[in-house]
Formats: sequence, structure tokens, C-alpha cells
Amino acid sequence: MFYPDEIIEEVRSRNDIVDVVSGYVKLQKKGGNHWACCPFHNEDTPSFSVNGNKQMFHCFGCGVSGNVYTFVMRYENFTFPEAVKMLAERAGVKLPEIEYTEEQKQKASRKARLMEVNKEAAKFFYYQLRSPRGTIGMQYLQKRQLTDETMKRFGLGYSGKTGMDLITYLRQKGFEDDLIKEAGLGVISERSGLMSQFWNRVMFPIQDINGKVIGFGGRVMGDGEPKYLNSPETPVFDKRRNLFGMNFARTARTGNIILCEGYMDVISMHQAGFTQAVASLGTAFTAEQANLLRRYTDNVLLAYDSDGAGVKAALRGIGILREAGLTGKVINMRPYKDPDEFMKALGKEAFQERIDQAENSFFFELRILQEQFDMKDPESKTKFHREIAKKLCTFREEVERDNYLQAAAEKYFIGVDNLRKLVLSYAAQTGDAKPVERPRTTGGQRNPAQEKAAKAQKILLTWITDDPKIYPKIKKYITVSDFTDETVQAVASRLFTDLDEGKFNPASIISTFEDEEQQRAAAEVFQTQLPQLSTKQEREKAFHDILLAVKKNSYEYFSARLGSDVNALTQALAGKKALETLAKTHISLD
Ligand code: UTP
Ligand code: MN
Repeated sequence: MFYPDEIIEEVRSRNDIVDVVSGYVKLQKKGGNHWACCPFHNEDTPSFSVNGNKQMFHCFGCGVSGNVYTFVMRYENFTFPEAVKMLAERAGVKLPEIEYTEEQKQKASRKARLMEVNKEAAKFFYYQLRSPRGTIGMQYLQKRQLTDETMKRFGLGYSGKTGMDLITYLRQKGFEDDLIKEAGLGVISERSGLMSQFWNRVMFPIQDINGKVIGFGGRVMGDGEPKYLNSPETPVFDKRRNLFGMNFARTARTGNIILCEGYMDVISMHQAGFTQAVASLGTAFTAEQANLLRRYTDNVLLAYDSDGAGVKAALRGIGILREAGLTGKVINMRPYKDPDEFMKALGKEAFQERIDQAENSFFFELRILQEQFDMKDPESKTKFHREIAKKLCTFREEVERDNYLQAAAEKYFIGVDNLRKLVLSYAAQTGDAKPVERPRTTGGQRNPAQEKAAKAQKILLTWITDDPKIYPKIKKYITVSDFTDETVQAVASRLFTDLDEGKFNPASIISTFEDEEQQRAAAEVFQTQLPQLSTKQEREKAFHDILLAVKKNSYEYFSARLGSDVNALTQALAGKKALETLAKTHISLD
């Protein structure tokens, strides 16, 4: 964490969530809550609620929830430190200067210098393109139908005929040779010393999400090898963690992001109004980039080239997206090769249609897979059906798997029951339909039973935060270790500590989590849908059931671990006793 917890909490408590959200959407007071149409999904009737008491928001439509920090993070696409800064300023809280070690300072200032030299170089290229010397570059870009406005927006440039102009310019500006070299802008040649890395190319500055130039891609005008020359990795240019166009796509608010293969694809998409297009940086799409995308969307559309290499890259991309918990869809560009060509030939309305018709990545995979089999040959066809069954086994959630199973059966004319049997037999061979583990999600939810247990635990915590006065009544029956789900337990532990100290502040608990994924998960814990029951009797029964369910799960959990966990026996025995007492105890919700 950047700032001390107390500061984070002070900033949060000085920014009333109702006030802050009102600055973005029009809220209407109804009952204890304030309501609006959700700013995070499309809707006509308000299901987005802000609760001043809990200092939290929740949308009953799309399920997002959180505190004032997570709200501005989502709305503004801020990182947590950015949200802290913004809200601190808003409330007039002075943030402490972060103290760095000497080494950190040097590193930071070196990085700052690298950014400066990149920025100067970008300026140099930019003016070259617009000077008489840059005419050939300008003609090239015009031939590719880029408007002046687009060239300006992307800061396109031209690197000059000779290798010395840039170096001379940068030296004049006071940059040392070794810095120019470290930034990847210069290379040492034996004959002439430091020379420009780029010459006689049109230049595409690569920006980070804040719009700072971190590297370049330079394209030859016409044929020539390599087609694109890219800056090497430097301390500020991490090709695995950045995406071309992300600085614009982050605020596109289209509900999706389009992932393309090339710089030119991104630029021509933006020119046509699809400002949600991004591309990787001359290297294959990475898991880090998928995680970056996940900060902005969970819906990624692939617009890869329609040739064999593009299809292969798309299949790889789908896998990476899936691992990151993102839904991937594939845009069909045929008969054109890439988005750039498509846009030029058919225009943006046609492209929008292709977006709307984007193919679910699972069916895309099946379609490609099918090409290897001969559907006229029963033997080969059977093999294909087996492959489908194997693929279906990778869905972790039963409902999801079954939905895909039915759809696949229908699409490929297989009997649903036959396909289900096939899936079951593979599932049995591989030990249940167990999927690839997803990295770093909320405690890696595993199977339906565990999910059900986690659900009950979440409901219990939501219930307590909705009505904190029940906590003292159940305190003696329930302990933090009853919450067997990792994230829920972390939340419960903080909440119970607070309540024991007579504090009640669910919104502050969310910000004590370091990573954004955890914050989101923590917010969810407080926002589970409670059963809507009218009579007190029904509510008391429902509450009692939930309490019992949590307790019972915890008892079973520890009983199953008697051999492997030294505390399990104590826990299980205590759990059994509590369970028995609880079964006979009436807990009033008054
Ligand atoms: P493409 O060859 O599809 O290029 O490579 P493009 O972006 O569509 O450009 P045009 O339309 O032919 O001018 C896709 C991406 O692969 C990387 C670049 O990032 C490029 O945008 N690449 C390609 C390189 O880094 N070096 C190369 O030599 C070729
Ligand atoms: Mn291309």
C-alpha cells in the first residue's frame, strides 16, 4: 500500500459517498437509499443504489458494488493510488510525501529522465513529419488514408533520412549519450559512434495508459525488412504490460475492448470511431496485458488477422483471456485481412455489425477444430465429438457447462444425452470436470459445494452489516474460522474486530485490501442479495438457517481435515457443540 491505513481511512471518511456519486449521476432518495440508473451498465430503470449509512454502493442489475474508492476507480478508470489522490484533493486532505531510499530516488529519477528523452524524441519526429524533410513520410501516411487529426492524436512522426539528426537534437537538449542509448533511441556504431536507432521510417509513439511516451515503433515506407522496428525493452518500456491505444481505450466506455494485432489496425479503428481498440506491442499478447484489460472490461473482442497466423494467435489469445477470467469473442473480418483493410473497404457501420455478430470464443475454437476432421467419415466425426466433450469438461461451473453442452449439441447435431454421457465419462477419467485454475481470482473458488458454502458465508456477513445489532447475539456461536472461504474470512476477521471494538464501518474494510481484485471481492461480500421476506418469523427462520448452514459447513470442513490439520480436531469439536446448541436456540432479530 502506498499510504498509511489511517490516511486512506481519513480520506474515505471525509468523502461522503452520496456526495461524491452525486457529482457523477443524478441520485434520487427513496427509502434509506439513493437511486440512479447504473453508470456501469445500460438500463432504463434505476437499480443502482447508494447507501449513506454503509457508505457503499450496489447495483442490483449488474452486481457491481463497493465504497467511494471503488466507485471512482471504476468510473474514472483510476488505480487505487490515483483514487486516493483525487479524493484527498477533493476533501482537502494533505497526503504525506512518500519517503524513498536513495536508491529508489535514483531509479525514479533515471526513469523520469528516460521518459523525458522519449518525449523529446517524439517531439522531434513529430516536427520532422510536418517539415519539408518529412514529405515522404507525410505522403505515405496520407496514402494510407490517415487524416491530419488522426496523425495528431496519435502523435505520428517521421525519423529523418540520416541517423544523426535526432542524436544532435537530443544532445543539444542536454541528454547524455548513455541515456539516449538506454532509451533505445540510439545505437553505437563502430564507425560513427552513437547513431539513431530509427531513420527513414514513419514513427508510431507508444504511450502508456497515462499517455506518456515509453517507446516507438517505426515502419518502413513500402517494402523492406523489418517492416516495423520497435524500441527494445527499457526500464520504462515493458512490452508485456502495455498496450498500444490503451491511453484512449480506457475512457471509451463502450462496454468492450477490441484487441487487434497491429498499430495500423488500432489507428484506423480509432479514426472510424472505435476508440476502444488496442494492440500488443510487436510481441504476442500476454497474461499481464489480459490483467490490464480486466481493469477496464470483462468483455474482449478479438479482431485478429483472418489468415492462418491470425487464427492461431486468436486461439492463443482466447486461452489467455479465459485464464484471466475474461470473456473473449472473435470478430470475423472476412473477406478482408485485417481491421484496417476492412474499414477501408466496408466502413464503420459494417464493422459495427461484425462487432454485434462476434462469435463466442468457445464456438470459434470448435469451428477451427472441426476443420481437422472429415465430417463425412463416421470415425473422424466421432473423434470430433469426443474433442467437443473434452473441451466441455474445462468449464468449471455446472450451469455454464450444461448451457454450452446444449448449444454445442444443437449446433453439431449431436444428441444432448449422448454428448452428456460422453462428457461425464471424460469427467470421470480426469477426476471431475475440473478446469484450469484461474490465477489470482477471489481465493480461487473451486467446486459447487464450496461455492455454496461461500455464498452462505457472504449472506451472513451482509446480514450483519445490514443490521449490526445482531452481532452480539450470535457472537458466541460463530468465529472467524467458520468462514472457510479465504476472502470472506479476511472480511469477517476485519469486520468482527471492528464490531468487537464498537466500531462499524464496512466501507473502510474494503480499502484495507491491497489489490483491486480483492477489494472488489470484499465489496461483494457485503452486498449479497438477502432473502426478501415479509414477516419477522420468516426472517428469523431464514437467518437461523443461514447461521446453521455456515456452522455446519465449517464443522464438515474441519472434520474432513482431521488428519492433516492440527487445529482441526479442536475446531471440529467446538463446532459440533455450537451446532447442537444453535439448533435449539431461538435468535430474535429485534
Ligand atoms: P502486421 O504485419 O499485421 O502490421 O503486424 P500492421 O500493423 O497491420 O501494419 P500494416 O498495415 O501492414 O502497415 C502486426 C504487428 O506486429 C508487429 C507490429 O506491432 C505490428 O503492428 N510487427 C510486425 C513487428 O513488430 N515487426 C514487424 O516486422 C512486423
Ligand atoms: Mn496487419
